[in-house]
Amino acid sequence: MKVARNWTPDGWKAHEARHLPVYEDAAALAEAERMMASFPPLVFAGEARALKADLAEVARGDAFLLQGGDCAESFAEFHPNNIRDTFRVLLQMAVVLTFASKKPVVKVGRMAGQFAKPRSSPTETQGDVTLPSYLGDNINGIEFDPASRTNDPQRMIRAYSQAAATLNLLRAFAGGGYANLRQVHQWTLDFMDRSPWAEKFGQMADRIGEALDFMEACGIDPATVPQLQGTSFYTSHEALLLPYEQAMTRQDSLTGDWYDTSAHMLWVGDRTRFDGSAHIEFCRGVGNPLGVKCGPSLEADDLLRLLDTLNPAREAGRITLISRFGHDKVEAGLPRLVRAVQREGHPVVWSCDPMHGNVIKADSGYKTRPFDRILGEVKGFFAVHRAEGTHAGGIHIEMTGQDVTECVGGAVAITDAALGDRYHTHCDPRLNAAQSLELAFLLAEMLNLETQGQQANAA
Ligand code: PEP
Ligand code: CO
Repeated sequence: MKVARNWTPDGWKAHEARHLPVYEDAAALAEAERMMASFPPLVFAGEARALKADLAEVARGDAFLLQGGDCAESFAEFHPNNIRDTFRVLLQMAVVLTFASKKPVVKVGRMAGQFAKPRSSPTETQGDVTLPSYLGDNINGIEFDPASRTNDPQRMIRAYSQAAATLNLLRAFAGGGYANLRQVHQWTLDFMDRSPWAEKFGQMADRIGEALDFMEACGIDPATVPQLQGTSFYTSHEALLLPYEQAMTRQDSLTGDWYDTSAHMLWVGDRTRFDGSAHIEFCRGVGNPLGVKCGPSLEADDLLRLLDTLNPAREAGRITLISRFGHDKVEAGLPRLVRAVQREGHPVVWSCDPMHGNVIKADSGYKTRPFDRILGEVKGFFAVHRAEGTHAGGIHIEMTGQDVTECVGGAVAITDAALGDRYHTHCDPRLNAAQSLELAFLLAEMLNLETQGQQANAA
């Protein structure tokens, strides 16, 4: 990418910033930033470029993007089993999608840095006490007391070290044998036995095993084929906490370009992607692949302006547009954005976030997302792209490998009354492991139809 004009890592400070915490102790903030700026980068610029090349394939219609993980990572849920289980459900989903679509799946975790959250209200009231809202473990604490809710810059240091350890384990799993296709049966989690989709997954794993046996008999030893031995796995988070992102931004020694080395991919949220925002200003100068959340309030003209700002060179793979309209709004709202982008010839990946437009308050009082509405938005997204002749390129979901009860519905139906059983999220409700796998199978059917349509057009 060409170096952005008139850009410096701290230039965002002259722009309007929403959803940034105020730190009372400026000296403590400066000290934390100075420390982080001296820490090793978490990712290397060349890896961010590799992801961009993979996403360029998605933009061309030749691959699919699977992005998923926690709404908010937390210090409390930091455990190797949680990292492993989320990773393996993403692997399972990727295998299901690849098997159906015969297209490579680009895997990106909402992991190893996804802490900071924009909140609808700056304060929270319980009884007659009002305190600042929880903003994510890298900013303040979730406990409802004044000390926890005080913004503490030292939390950024802890978040960095958690992200580093998480990424280290993900890299080990991806390259060290865990992701070997011979292990595909082992990825199924015990508690998923009750789901009919787990059985379907087992049958697919058998067929993959047979294919590997066949290849081996033909003289292709899976043990020596790198693509069967391991996989590539990337990380991403919302680039919300700009002091943290700025401190992690380094100039690449090979190209001279700036990269935010806190993750491979970063995205700008629906509440901070407005024209002239500090978040857009920061992101335009870093060479990483970028996501932009597109909600119902985004006008086509504003989107085109954003694309010109963030991707003036029109590099494929640079921009992923993540639509999040809601199940009942996607078919009315998305086409005008797709058409404008097509008309101007911007190469983008279109991805569907079926989570953030589908939150409801259950009778039990819990915030939830009905599985049917999540599926409904994905179907609507595919229908729009089918009608417009564009590629439904990816999915962006909040999920976990744990057996939580946060989203209602699914084949092993989670009822409203059961939400309280294992409702662990620090922010929004996530799909559990069985619901994620179920979504992958239903998505695979839609992708399969798209692939068949492409083949029919080509014939
Ligand atoms: C999120 O992805 O966690 C989020 C807050 O989404 P959005 O910006 O689309 O509301
Ligand atoms: Co969320």
